[in-house]
Amino acid sequence: MQATFNLSAQINFIEKTAKPFMKWAGGKGQLIESLVNLFPAEIQTGEIKKYAEPFIGGGALFFYVAQNCPQIENFYVSDANQELVLAYTIIQKDVESLISFLATLEKNYHALDSSDQKEFFYEQRKKFNEKLLTVNFNKFQADWVERTAEIIFLNRTCFNGLFRVNSKGEFNVPFGDYTNPRICDADNLRAVSALLQKTEIKLGDFAASEEFVDDSTFVYFDPPYRPISKTASFNSYSKFKFGDEAQKRLKV
Ligand SMILES: C[S@@+](CC[C@H](N)C(=O)[O-])C[C@H]1O[C@@H](n2cnc3c(N)ncnc32)[C@H](O)[C@@H]1O
Repeated sequence: MQATFNLSAQINFIEKTAKPFMKWAGGKGQLIESLVNLFPAEIQTGEIKKYAEPFIGGGALFFYVAQNCPQIENFYVSDANQELVLAYTIIQKDVESLISFLATLEKNYHALDSSDQKEFFYEQRKKFNEKLLTVNFNKFQADWVERTAEIIFLNRTCFNGLFRVNSKGEFNVPFGDYTNPRICDADNLRAVSALLQKTEIKLGDFAASEEFVDDSTFVYFDPPYRPISKTASFNSYSKFKFGDEAQKRLKV
């Protein structure tokens, strides 16, 4: 099927509006144009009314579709990474409190010289990991706001914007040493929040998306890649690995 999207006009549009709020390994921000060229024609005819992205990650394609395909009315995003889904949920439900926490973290961080910034980063990382055992990821809690601010802070200041955890689920990416990183992009967070108002957000395995998907749904699957060797490729987004068994389940 051929898609006939007016790419140049639409990509200019997205640059001014909502974009991924976290850097994410495997993010598809640079591939939007190629992906849009593969879109089913039914998106334009209006036969497709729903969009599901069960491996949402940074959500580059979701943000494109949600802002450029007005025929699509309902959205579903999910991921197995509990910190990521918690962040999407807070941006949907309480973006102003998040902005206030994150702006404070940004101000405190930028007030320090570079060696103190490094120390501040490791203190935040330690605090973030210590609280892991007390967070209830399945039921909304007030402390989710602070946790979302912390994970966005860590994502913006860690090495390469990676999200990587050890076998206990602790975030273990080292300091990134960037000059003046943007930590709180309030306008973008508000734009993301507006899009998430029409979006169902779920924590869990991709298979749960079956409940949302029907004949009028466009589903974009972007699972972790199968590493070509034990060390050659990154796919540790959470303590649960996406192995061959999961690749086979997805194929079915
Ligand atoms: C390649 S990334 C997706 C990148 C995304 N398309 C973007 O543009 O940023 C794969 C995602 O799958 C998630 N994931 C891993 N195992 C999963 C599972 N069993 N079910 C749902 N999501 C899973 C990871 O947490 C990660 O966010």
